[in-house]
Amino acid sequence: MENKDNDLMQKIISLTKRRGFIYQGSEIYGGLAGTWDYGPLGAELKNNIKKEYLKETVYSRENMYLVDAAIMMNPRVWVASGHTELFSDPLIECKICHIRIRADHKEEINEHIVFHKKRGEKQEFTEAKKFNLLVEAKLGSIEEEKDTIYLRGEITQGVHVNFKNVLDSMHPKIPFGVAQIGKAFRNEITPQNFTFRSREFEQMETQFYIKPDESEGKKWIEYFKEQRMNWYISLGIKKENLRFRQHDKDEMAHYAKDAWDIEYNSPFGGFNEFEGIHHRGNWDLSRHSEFSRENLSYYDEEEKKRFVPWVIETSGGVDRAILFLLIDAYFEDEINGETRVLLKLHPKLAPYKAAVFPLLANKPELIGIAREIFKELKKELNVAWDDIGNIGKRYRRQDEIGTPYCITIDFQTVEDRTITIRDRDTAKQIRIDKKEILKYIQDRLK
Ligand code: GAP
Repeated sequence: MENKDNDLMQKIISLTKRRGFIYQGSEIYGGLAGTWDYGPLGAELKNNIKKEYLKETVYSRENMYLVDAAIMMNPRVWVASGHTELFSDPLIECKICHIRIRADHKEEINEHIVFHKKRGEKQEFTEAKKFNLLVEAKLGSIEEEKDTIYLRGEITQGVHVNFKNVLDSMHPKIPFGVAQIGKAFRNEITPQNFTFRSREFEQMETQFYIKPDESEGKKWIEYFKEQRMNWYISLGIKKENLRFRQHDKDEMAHYAKDAWDIEYNSPFGGFNEFEGIHHRGNWDLSRHSEFSRENLSYYDEEEKKRFVPWVIETSGGVDRAILFLLIDAYFEDEINGETRVLLKLHPKLAPYKAAVFPLLANKPELIGIAREIFKELKKELNVAWDDIGNIGKRYRRQDEIGTPYCITIDFQTVEDRTITIRDRDTAKQIRIDKKEILKYIQDRLK
């Protein structure tokens, strides 16, 4: 990692902790590697991203449904899906210090070789061994009779095991999609790069069921590649930081017929996976049919034909979206000779949509109107209150957490009921009637 990139990551990690976005998981007990907790502002940002995902994938479309399946599933699900057998990373072990590294992480391997070379040691790795990524848990009330289950390694299977339920209850017409957002768990060997690779993380996915036909498969892969890329750009990821990469045959997951990644040019090690767009063929439904003995086929009324649909999947990481949005939103500029830190988050993602400031904290006539405005806005929006320190400092505090609008109540407000509203990115202020504030902000959230 170059120094400037390292600096940027350190600044973001420090800002997110200091301002209540992301904390180390179980921090007061020394942490738990690969887990992170979202603080008050991080939880808001995360929720806003998830809301936008549902708007984009479910509510703005026809034939799209949302489910919310259990995290704990019958362990046979994971046998059928191939995860108990095939969901593994190849690991090599250093024969000197016994550190384990993923055999496909070339950069890390080279760094390790150089580390030993510098100490004059003749270093060797063991042959690669498979390491299963499913996280096990024990379930049951009698100690000796507890069953081993798996925390879901991908949220996907919760959708496919409900394929028949969705058909029978909603009667969708093919092609149709089922979306889900939720936690997934993986025993990652080297959780790293802040939240980028965690052991507990959240996914947002759509399983899109189509007719089993090569040209349909190609058409929908292309469609979703474009849709997903545009969605990230519309939320504020810089276009130049994104690209597609098709998986080579030998790196594709066991379920995939074709696989593409949307990659993000991160400050750590360049382009990294952001979201996967996968052609899963009939892998999931046919395996679950075989193992559960349920008929998971679809009857096409128009063609008078029964078939097992193919699936085109889009699978993104909510935590990666948060991290990459924060990186692309982070700016430092200068106002009146002072450096300010700015999170240029899209207003619809910003944790607070506005902050309300009475110019002075000891003037009841200002506080009264400010409280009234604050209470009214809070009915519709998440709004912050700040009456500490001078106005300049209050602006800086809100800029740093991405609040797009700051509203100041001053002595002129008492006379003519106008307030100043300041734009985060331009730092420009205008005066508007206090009755217009809500509409002014709502228009800009669209
Ligand atoms: N259902 C398909 C699936 O799970 P994946 O490529 O393994 O595919 C999809 O994961 C997305 O989930 C990734 O593109 C990434 O955004 C997110 N993801 C995967 N592993 C992760 C981890 N250890 N930490 C954070 N996010 C992760």
